[in-house]
Amino acid sequence: MELVFATHNLNKVIEVQDMLTSGIQLIGLDQLGFNEDIAENGLDLKSNAQIKATHIYGLFGKNCFADDTGLEVDALNGLPGVYSARFAGEQKSDTDNIKFLLEKMKSKSNRRAQFRAVICLVYKGDTIFFEGAIEGEITHEPIGNDGFGYDSVFKPKGFDITFAQMDSYLKNQISHRYIAFKKLVTYLNGLKVI
Ligand code: IMP
Repeated sequence: MELVFATHNLNKVIEVQDMLTSGIQLIGLDQLGFNEDIAENGLDLKSNAQIKATHIYGLFGKNCFADDTGLEVDALNGLPGVYSARFAGEQKSDTDNIKFLLEKMKSKSNRRAQFRAVICLVYKGDTIFFEGAIEGEITHEPIGNDGFGYDSVFKPKGFDITFAQMDSYLKNQISHRYIAFKKLVTYLNGLKVI
């Protein structure tokens, strides 16, 4: 069975394909010949994942899933959340977003936060959600050079280092994304599709 992963990121497609043991062939948006960006105008991660998955399912009639991820900070009432990629503005960089976040966190003693990933699968017309989260805290300054996004200001619970100081293999074993995809893959591997 072919299953569309509604992303333009081929690395993500390969990563999930490698986790699948059943007869499922993943197809990314570029392989599908769909080169546009789908407007992510939902108010939460779940809505954005669903918007992307249902858009592609509606256009191509193919089973499909999509993901959306964000950093949720308690002291900021869950922000940046769905706005994580553009917290400091539409054209801003990861560095700008981190600077903006740390400025907002300046006077906050509660530093608790979590990364959360939501996946929406539209399979034979049914909609199913999978979720992964990792708790941690926001540091007072960026620490570490690896990773991307907010990695340098996120220290996962139980660790004394930020995601940006962590070996990428270890990060990928504990991340919100990995937890969510593991749940999706467990579900897909259980489908009788061959
Ligand atoms: P996306 O939904 O995967 O595109 O993620 C949205 C935004 O959340 C990204 O632009 C990053 O700023 C942030 N983000 C998502 N996952 C991570 C992560 O694992 N580390 C750091 N930042 C992340």
